[in-house]
Amino acid sequence: MPVAIVTGASTGIGRATALDLARHGYNIALCDLPGVSVAEVANHPDAAGRRMLPVELDLREEASIHACVATVAEAFGAMDVLVNNAATTLRRLATEVTWAEWDGLMSVNLKGHYFMSTAYGRWCIANGKPGSIVSTASTHGLTGLPMQSVYGIAKGGIIQMTRMLAVEWARQGIRVNAVAPATVLTPSRHASLTAEPARLEMMLNRLPQGRFPTAEDIAAAIRYLAGPEAAAVTGHILPVDGGLMAV
Ligand SMILES: NC(=O)c1ccc[n+]([C@@H]2O[C@H](COP(=O)([O-])OP(=O)(O)OC[C@H]3O[C@@H](n4cnc5c(N)ncnc54)[C@H](O)[C@@H]3O)[C@@H](O)[C@H]2O)c1
Repeated sequence: MPVAIVTGASTGIGRATALDLARHGYNIALCDLPGVSVAEVANHPDAAGRRMLPVELDLREEASIHACVATVAEAFGAMDVLVNNAATTLRRLATEVTWAEWDGLMSVNLKGHYFMSTAYGRWCIANGKPGSIVSTASTHGLTGLPMQSVYGIAKGGIIQMTRMLAVEWARQGIRVNAVAPATVLTPSRHASLTAEPARLEMMLNRLPQGRFPTAEDIAAAIRYLAGPEAAAVTGHILPVDGGLMAV
């Protein structure tokens, strides 16, 4: 049975991806911050018959990343897929962003994912195994937008990380891809956006399909890029955005 590591697996897109991959035959390492429970995902009926292993991970800590990868390698002896999904957000005018806020977001959303990816890639190369990384970028990494500069710059970095690592590791059989979702009303986004109905309406109206993509839409795209059907696809950024990038 193939094994997938999913970061930020407790909720939202990470949760949907873990359950989607479980339904499609993967055992899953459910990685999230210490103190954040993944029990609901681990015990979900969709995961019946799969091994769902909770693993603590704080992407701000190098030692935590290495411990996470070592734990998964030890437990499963395989790591077919890495889904870089965990992230934080920051909605702030560029003129008000502090040095500490920049470092805080970048340490998770860019640096953490880079070193998670290299820890994974190092293990694949050392063990002569193929690999597949799918990161959750964003349409905010592809277009300009007010109030989201640090978040968007980090997602732009994830997009370029995807291309760089895809080319560097192509001959070693490690594929590296990313999805770029438009807004998805995950619990965290739902809570913040329903407090601003006019903004929610404006965002919905920008989407050609007239609906927000769901966490399940994103999970299905991640599964495609992660799995053998995408064997010849690497360095690709797949918008899952209701047509937004086509406008
Ligand atoms: N929801 C959207 O509208 C949307 C749109 C485009 C891209 N994305 C991206 O998709 C991904 C998932 O989005 P979501 O809305 O489900 O997120 P979310 O905020 O609901 O969940 C984020 C997860 O990351 C975990 N996390 C946070 N900091 C961490 C750290 N330091 N180490 C390890 N885990 C940590 C959280 O505990 C949580 O499980 C993110 O990368 C996000 O940027 C989301």
